[in-house]
Amino acid sequence: VLFLLLPIVLYISYHLSGALAKKKPTTHGLKSYPLLGHLPAFLKNRHRFLDWSTELILRSPEQRMGFWFPGMLTGMVTGNPADVEHVLRANFGNYPKGARSISMLHDFLGGGLFNSDGEQWQWQRKNASLEFSTRSLRGFVVDAVQTEVADRLLPLLRRAAAAGEVLDMQDVLERFAFDTICVVSFGHDPCCLADGGALTEGKSGFMHAFGEAQDLIVGRFLEPVAASWKIKRWLNIGTERRLKKAIADVHDFAMDIVRARRESSSSVKSRDDVLSRFAASDEHGDEVLRDIVLSFLIAGRETTSSALTWFFWLVSSRPDVAARIAGEVRTIRASTRTNPGEPFGFDMLRDMSYLHAALTESMRLYPPVPIDSQSCAADDTLPDGTHVGAGWSITYSAYAMGRLAAVWGEDCMEYRPERWLGEDGGFRPESPFRYTVFHAGPRTCLGKEMAYVQMKSIVASVLEEFAVDVVGQDTGAVPEHVLSVTLRMKGGLPVQIRRRVNSNDNV
Ligand code: HEM
Repeated sequence: VLFLLLPIVLYISYHLSGALAKKKPTTHGLKSYPLLGHLPAFLKNRHRFLDWSTELILRSPEQRMGFWFPGMLTGMVTGNPADVEHVLRANFGNYPKGARSISMLHDFLGGGLFNSDGEQWQWQRKNASLEFSTRSLRGFVVDAVQTEVADRLLPLLRRAAAAGEVLDMQDVLERFAFDTICVVSFGHDPCCLADGGALTEGKSGFMHAFGEAQDLIVGRFLEPVAASWKIKRWLNIGTERRLKKAIADVHDFAMDIVRARRESSSSVKSRDDVLSRFAASDEHGDEVLRDIVLSFLIAGRETTSSALTWFFWLVSSRPDVAARIAGEVRTIRASTRTNPGEPFGFDMLRDMSYLHAALTESMRLYPPVPIDSQSCAADDTLPDGTHVGAGWSITYSAYAMGRLAAVWGEDCMEYRPERWLGEDGGFRPESPFRYTVFHAGPRTCLGKEMAYVQMKSIVASVLEEFAVDVVGQDTGAVPEHVLSVTLRMKGGLPVQIRRRVNSNDNV
């Protein structure tokens, strides 16, 4: 019977695909097949999705690519600033994260800020925004970061410099970021970098489980057929089995901390971490608190470490930039009458405009969150008249946008911090719809200031004392990246640390 029905099914699908074709997205130079759409090209390129989509966007006059996998997924990836402004701000209400994405992350992040839409997102966003604007949280972040720099990072680098040891800088920065985000979110220090700078083997169990859960969950997004991960989860086999275990470990660990904090509720009000601030209101159950905290962890865990890994790689071949940063730090030391090795206060960090520009420029080319997707709730039209259908996924690519000559000029591939400086030498920001590294509109990143505090503290402290040389890589070759939520370097970043003789020295 199936054999006899096959021609009829094919006939109907062919005509259905013809009707859909009138409204399906197209991509300049990308072939679409009847019944299969762009699926063959996607399957061929999904292991290099970021580079593939970037190549297509750079070739497209509209600065976007469309894809259509019949019966599975339809959508667009755009690097066009007008599209981004439309989706993230002008018609924000029509572009939620969407049920597909939320369902994939739900067993890990529940309904936390990062993984919710509508009212559930709104109340968390309102409360979290209030917390993030307080002076006390800012002071707490500065202190947490400075302690990690002074007691752990600098001793580690001093020892590595003396021993001529090769360090994986990406690993060191990830441990740093995990420690500080846990202190700020939970008030708990997992000591992934131990006091005195020891790199404990195996890191913390919590960091390991969290990393594993995040990496495995990304695999769900790359399955063209959503049913396949659901079936694996139902059967409890393969990656879904490992994912279940990793999620259970993360939840147990986080729950223990939430309960312990509740039990010591008398001290809650006097503490500054995000968990204590949400717990103090007594409005939320333990699971809600756990999910809120996990959302902060996922947001702040690998973003700053990714940004800094690419930054140190870029600057290792740009001694002029390293020397200028060290010079700026020296000027600020002189004006504040502080000595090398002393902590940098918030105001000192704020005055480091060149360093701010150097980091911003590095993230333009290597954005920590290279692509980010929303879904379209109801049929819509982009500013240039292009149709977007209900249920389509719409993704903006900060990575492709950073490489568009139409946005950044003909020298867009050049690392040039000066492009961010005004005539007075101060930092000159760009529209968030052209520089989409921290997202834009109502859902813009809440941790941007905290991220700059952390990144500037690390870079200023490191380059004040050391030069960082990348070892074992072809000169000029761009390291490969891992396909994940954040732009991580494949195989890490091996470096050697050298003490600077003076601040102009990077050789
Ligand atoms: C260089 C570092 C960082 C970059 C590039 C960055 C980038 C982003 C991006 C692209 C988003 C939007 C993601 C989405 O679609 O949901 C986002 C959201 C968010 N970020 Fe960051 N982030 C950074 C650091 C941090 C840090 C350190 C925190 C601190 C906890 C943080 C907290 C958040 C939160 C809470 C959201 C969710 C906002 C919402 O959905 O309303 N971020 N960030």
